[in-house]
Amino acid sequence: MINVGGYDNHAKVSQIRYEQPKLSKRKPIEFSPKGLWTPRIDPDNIAYNSLFQPFNLNQYIYPRPPIDMGRVDILQLNECGINVLRMPLKFPGTNYKIPQELSACETLIRRVAEYAKFINPNHDDCFCHITHDSSMVNSGEYHRFPGFHGDGIQGTKLTPKVNVEHSYIMTTNPPTEFCLQPFFLKHLDEAKHNFFLEFDKQAHDVNVFGSLPEHLYLIDPYMVHRTPQITMRCSRTFIRITYAFTELQHPKNTINPHFKGQKYDKRVDIRENLTPNEFDPPYHLYGLSKVDEKLKEERDWAAQFTEETK
Ligand SMILES: [Fe+2]
Repeated sequence: MINVGGYDNHAKVSQIRYEQPKLSKRKPIEFSPKGLWTPRIDPDNIAYNSLFQPFNLNQYIYPRPPIDMGRVDILQLNECGINVLRMPLKFPGTNYKIPQELSACETLIRRVAEYAKFINPNHDDCFCHITHDSSMVNSGEYHRFPGFHGDGIQGTKLTPKVNVEHSYIMTTNPPTEFCLQPFFLKHLDEAKHNFFLEFDKQAHDVNVFGSLPEHLYLIDPYMVHRTPQITMRCSRTFIRITYAFTELQHPKNTINPHFKGQKYDKRVDIRENLTPNEFDPPYHLYGLSKVDEKLKEERDWAAQFTEETK
């Protein structure tokens, strides 16, 4: 059993999220966003430079905070009584089709769709799917899968790499945690090494920041984050709306009855075959060297001594 990030790789995740809800075929809410001009939020965030570029492991050296898009109407979202996992909202060239069971999410989906259409010149060619997960979570457990990770890391299956996916996420308290620091991954082998465990290994506690509950965030695969461990039993809601240029063909996806297809073969989760990397990053390959802790201590002490004897 591997224990790198303070959790084991069989940590409990509430099973309810993987049930396959059957949605009705009643007329869906259907729309197409206009993509009218709107202010770009957090326009200096470097995420916008790599948002519509092919996936590149070197981007993990350049940390970027999640893009806070402001509050959401949580009372309205609380009316949503169904959990769905990666349910398609649109396919390339189609309108958005929201099953009636998710009508409480309509306002949020429209808000996201309008922004996504405005910032993404290839919005219409994207797949879009939604996860809505509102669950009771026990103390000591995790609402989502534990450990640091990026959403949309492209592994060996996607070679050559394609433009990255991006997601709009919202959680209630306690919110998602982000680690703002460089991560060195380029020297690892994507066919062999588990990058998620590497994030846990390289992450420093002082670099971990909580996001704000009930706020909407735009995130890319390079924003390394984790779900917090629950310390007191609570009800927690997580919503993610993802835009990707390739279809996520996972048999556990919730089926949207208003689109054809969506029958996917069982598949092996490649992460089960990946192993942790046990070595420190070779910093010289990144043009850096590690400042020796002892040397640093001595320098600090010398500086303090000089200050006191002035
Ligand atoms: Fe995530």
